[in-house]
Amino acid sequence: MNTGKVTLVGAGPGDPEMLTLKALKAIHQATVLLVDDLVSDEVVAHAPKGARVVYVGKRGGCRSTPQAFIEKLMILAAREGENVVRLKGGDPFIFGRGGEELEHLRAAGIEVEVVNGITSGLAAVTSLGVPLTHREHAQGVIFLTGHAQKGAEPPDWKAIAAIARDARLTLVIYMGVSSAERIQRDLLSGLPAATPVAVVQKASLPQQRHAVTTLGELAATIARDGLASPSVIVVGDVVRGVAAAAAQGKLRAA
Ligand SMILES: C[S@@+](CC[C@H](N)C(=O)[O-])C[C@H]1O[C@@H](n2cnc3c(N)ncnc32)[C@H](O)[C@@H]1O
Repeated sequence: MNTGKVTLVGAGPGDPEMLTLKALKAIHQATVLLVDDLVSDEVVAHAPKGARVVYVGKRGGCRSTPQAFIEKLMILAAREGENVVRLKGGDPFIFGRGGEELEHLRAAGIEVEVVNGITSGLAAVTSLGVPLTHREHAQGVIFLTGHAQKGAEPPDWKAIAAIARDARLTLVIYMGVSSAERIQRDLLSGLPAATPVAVVQKASLPQQRHAVTTLGELAATIARDGLASPSVIVVGDVVRGVAAAAAQGKLRAA
């Protein structure tokens, strides 16, 4: 009899204190945990003794587990009556393939629940002491990926620049550091070179680093400061407030 279920749980950006109570409850009740790469060890440490923990990211130098295999594992375990927790960095529904997993699990007739997590883009700007939206500087926010799926078209950065300028939106770009040169070039078609930009690596973790720069200097800053994945790039006027927050001593050391 199928009595198992799968819960897609957002583990937040890394700081274990940013886990929600609902996520913690789901982890405590898990009998099997499938853990992504960006989930911190302190979060996994909440798994009950005796629960089976399977790392499906690139941890330990292994190539990441194929998505189809992860989905198969979840379905098999749930059919065996396990209480499966799929632990994902940030929020499962922001560039986390949570949507695909949900569809496949539902198609297989598995009971599935989703527990939101704090997405890294939000944690990144908050850690700099500035908001994503502000009545005077940004009327909204767009979450984007800088990394297109194999064979798919990359985001239309020129159209995005135009809408960000006209509608006064903050851009939060995930997985963008390795394509920063192209992103910079295309965004410059619609946004001024002086547009403020922040790059935040390992947001919320003790190893967090960041740089505040301009769109015209984005790629050069990333190369100079050696900023790497996992990082988010935040583009927009809200970033101007970082200097003010730093002056009040509210920032972690960069
Ligand atoms: C596959 S996406 C997953 C995003 C995740 N679902 C979320 O909501 O944050 C991985 C990307 O998220 C961003 N990311 C995840 N954790 C991060 C962190 N602690 N600091 C900065 N960026 C992070 C990076 O852009 C990284 O390449």
